Amino acid sequence: MNASPLHLFGQQLLQFANIDATKKDKAFANRFIEHLDTIENLFDEIYSGHPQRNDAFDALLNALIYQYKSRPKNFLKKDEDKAKKGNWFLSNEITGMSLYVDRFAGDINGLKNKLDYFNELGVNFLHLMPVFESPAGESDGGYAVSDFRKVDARFGTNEDLNALIKEMNASNMYLMLDIVLNHTSHHHEWAKKAKAGDPYYQDFFYFFENRDLPNQFDQTMPEIFPESSPGSFTYIPECNKWVMTVFHNYQWDLNYRNPNVFVAMLDNVLHYGNLGVDILRIDAPAFIWKQLGTSCQNLPEAHTLLRLIKQCALVTSPGMALLGEAIVAPKEIIKYFGTDKYVANECDVAYNATQMALQWDALATGDTRVMLAAQHEILQKPYGCTWISYTRCHDDIGLGYDDYMIERAGFNPYHHRTYLKNYFAGWHEGSVAAGALFSVNPKTNDARISGTLASLCGLEKAKDWNSESEIENALRKIILMQAQSMFMGGIPMLFNGDELAYTNDYSYLEDAGKSYDNRWMHRPIMHWDKNENRNIAGSFESRIFKETKKLIATRKALPILSDLKNVIWMTPHNIHVAGFVRTLDNKKIYCLFNYKNTASFITWYAFKEHGERPSKLKNHWTGETCPVGNDNEYFVLSGYSFAILEAVD
Ligand code: GLC
Repeated sequence: MNASPLHLFGQQLLQFANIDATKKDKAFANRFIEHLDTIENLFDEIYSGHPQRNDAFDALLNALIYQYKSRPKNFLKKDEDKAKKGNWFLSNEITGMSLYVDRFAGDINGLKNKLDYFNELGVNFLHLMPVFESPAGESDGGYAVSDFRKVDARFGTNEDLNALIKEMNASNMYLMLDIVLNHTSHHHEWAKKAKAGDPYYQDFFYFFENRDLPNQFDQTMPEIFPESSPGSFTYIPECNKWVMTVFHNYQWDLNYRNPNVFVAMLDNVLHYGNLGVDILRIDAPAFIWKQLGTSCQNLPEAHTLLRLIKQCALVTSPGMALLGEAIVAPKEIIKYFGTDKYVANECDVAYNATQMALQWDALATGDTRVMLAAQHEILQKPYGCTWISYTRCHDDIGLGYDDYMIERAGFNPYHHRTYLKNYFAGWHEGSVAAGALFSVNPKTNDARISGTLASLCGLEKAKDWNSESEIENALRKIILMQAQSMFMGGIPMLFNGDELAYTNDYSYLEDAGKSYDNRWMHRPIMHWDKNENRNIAGSFESRIFKETKKLIATRKALPILSDLKNVIWMTPHNIHVAGFVRTLDNKKIYCLFNYKNTASFITWYAFKEHGERPSKLKNHWTGETCPVGNDNEYFVLSGYSFAILEAVD
């Protein structure tokens, strides 16, 4: 069969770049040719009519080749090893932690000196919050990037980052970094040139001569930070124009209608692959395509662009998995794994934001029915992809699940959501939570929730009250929340400080660059002298650290807990208890979580619904084995406790 013109062109490019397609670079050359048609089709879905289509497409193919040529040899080897393992990220042996380098350890070198700490805990995967250059005071925690390739001097140098990654590789640790795809800082050189009036770079952003179009966009675009950055457009006096700024006014949205923007950002994606990133966190992918008259979120073109990135990564950086950070409605999140012929071929990983929020719902209500009403959506995740499974991260908690799920559980959505917000803000009578509302929008009545895991679980108030029983409840709730995230399937991702029960850190209020954003309350600065308390028996730190460590070790020892699409939810025999079965071959593990402050009873009948009733159950958390009783008797879970029960006969 004759090669198509596209393939001939591709082969020419490979030859021109001295790619050894018969020996040394054979695997790459094969991938390049194999994915070429799909890459062109996806590219043309967006850019076929664009006057610069041809040049941009050539530039894209060259980016694939030249980034491959600069891929360090050790990562080529790692790519091969991962390919042998298949979907390596489904493993039960990976547990992550997300952290701010400066708040955790001062700088990158400080972090390198802390690798033993992760080893002690059992964490072998790090998500470093953005480390590339970002203007102090206008950084959104690093999510306003002014140079995608230069480590911010606050954290160290590019060499420091490379040295850290080398050390992490030597300790078999995985790395996640962000690509902030949707916007740049207004200090990025593209933005500076645009500000100075350069039309080539103005076309990198969404510029408008006056408010006519911005006013029309505003009618359908939800506000992301209504309090600190209302609206989605900012006036730029230097050039007397308006620019689109969906997040903060210092974060300028990139214009992906321009293929040069796509190619430039793809080159950054592949550059991160060459740094040794194992999972690339694509920040805010839901926002990358804008269309007048829509919410400008989750549009089909955004998915096409992500698929295109995936295809390109498969060619040049095949060991790098992609995470789509889409914190959107349950139905929409699932689409980031790909749909139709791209099922399981878009993002490999997504945040299970729905489940996370539902666990907070259950904790506040003591009722798991809303959680259950959402599972049919969550379970749509295709085989071969996985979740980031988490209770807290650096962002707020959005109650993003659907009203119908709340209705199905028998509640009024408006009252239910109001209760949850009041509960976590600590306003509801009897609430032990010490959180705060974030991004309150009086126009829509929307609000999200800030606060650390420990403070939202009640530890901060309980300590103030000096109440032993409330302290005990808070500590149990912390581990209950972590346990469900840990055993649900997906890569568990801790947030720094939660493993030591850090309560809210209010020091952000004294920093003008942070005080307008209460998400900083749950991004604590680590105090290493205080962290030593983890070695003092009887301290909160020691209990939470030990139990977190035990959760990680328990999961790691049980391959059945890999994410093999092997979760079956149990009939809700008791509304206070969330229960599911994990299965593998002929093994079964029942995972039960009691969201009530007192004991909950589960009929033994529940254990025979999924195949034969086991005669004995081994609890991997307590180490005890108990016989399965009669249908008219009960398995009892004490208040805020859980059980990981393996059927043993
Ligand atoms: C993501 C980040 C969040 C940031 C936003 C804008 O959602 O997680 O912290 O504010 O993107 O970049």
